[in-house]
Amino acid sequence: MGADRKSDELNRRNNAFDNKLRPVDFGGFVGQDKIRDRLMLAVEAAKARGESLDHVLFSGPPGLGKTTLSYILGEAMGVNVKTTSGPVIAKPGDLAGLLTTLEPGDIVFIDEIHRMAKTVEEYLYSAMEDFAIDIMIDQGPNARSVRLDLPRFTLVGATTRIGLIAAPLRARFGLVNRLDYYTPDLLSEIVVRSAGKLGVEIDAEGAMEIARRARGTPRIANNLLRRVRDYAQVRAGNFITGDVARTSLGLLEIDPNGLDEMDRRILETICMKFSGGPVGLSTIAVSVGEEPDTIEEAYEPFLIMEGYIERTPKGRVATPLAFTRVAGG
Ligand SMILES: Nc1ncnc2c1ncn2[C@@H]1O[C@H](COP(=O)(O)OP(=O)(O)OP(=O)(O)O)[C@@H](O)[C@H]1O
Ligand SMILES: [Mg+2]
Repeated sequence: MGADRKSDELNRRNNAFDNKLRPVDFGGFVGQDKIRDRLMLAVEAAKARGESLDHVLFSGPPGLGKTTLSYILGEAMGVNVKTTSGPVIAKPGDLAGLLTTLEPGDIVFIDEIHRMAKTVEEYLYSAMEDFAIDIMIDQGPNARSVRLDLPRFTLVGATTRIGLIAAPLRARFGLVNRLDYYTPDLLSEIVVRSAGKLGVEIDAEGAMEIARRARGTPRIANNLLRRVRDYAQVRAGNFITGDVARTSLGLLEIDPNGLDEMDRRILETICMKFSGGPVGLSTIAVSVGEEPDTIEEAYEPFLIMEGYIERTPKGRVATPLAFTRVAGG
């Protein structure tokens, strides 16, 4: 599944699930310490000066906390967060309609900002920089442009595909943050907190069993926790131990190493079709039926972090660990 081709239905379901477990303040947000510290500092400084927050960009693979941090920023600044997404703003008029309804200091959250139309993006430049937008009215000989002044607002953009953000847009963000995968320790802390919110008991071993299978991703950790909770509730007195977690995740055939379907296909391609590589990114992409950028930005970082593949000047190379996994180990 391409990170930028998530169906709307899937997005809606994710949102409904995500919202319940989403931390609402910096205190509840686990990990990404540098980013959190930087944002807390920026919020404190902006509030002390009585100004709006600088524009903020979040990038990184799906489910790592981009949307969560955007809402936390709104809460911390005490402002409204107006949410939209790149593909929804189709015309300059859509952007103007959104920006002219803002109150000073408000946050405009544009999800999937890499999917915004180029024609709209240019209007956004002056909105971000000059807090004004020039709109053309009428056509032909009567065409003229009208300047609309905007309140000082904060643009928060999120993208899974930082490579697709044009340099002039990127340069207009004061705070650029790249989110990284979470370690099992951090994920298990998230699982413990989420279990508390869901009203199910869990011990350290149970949390770690879930964390290890979560592909470095809080959203996956929470989704696995929900499945394990069902089992615990019906079969194990609503208490998730290591054994309960292992048994229920085994029933669900969750990969014990957290690899998802696309991860496995990528490893199989390199190991089996290309005898371990080196093989070029575009060749892998064609072979697994995914876009090269998506593989590079949403899948490879995890596979590299876990020691399954290496990037070399000649292409991607599978490690012995990758062969072990492909062989079913
Ligand atoms: N650092 C964190 N601490 C605790 N929970 C987290 C953290 N990051 C993410 N989560 C949980 O994971 C869920 C998914 O996070 P979020 O929606 O912010 O991801 P995203 O980066 O916006 O993903 P996408 O690219 O798919 O939009 C949240 O609802 C929240 O429950
Ligand atoms: Mg999001």
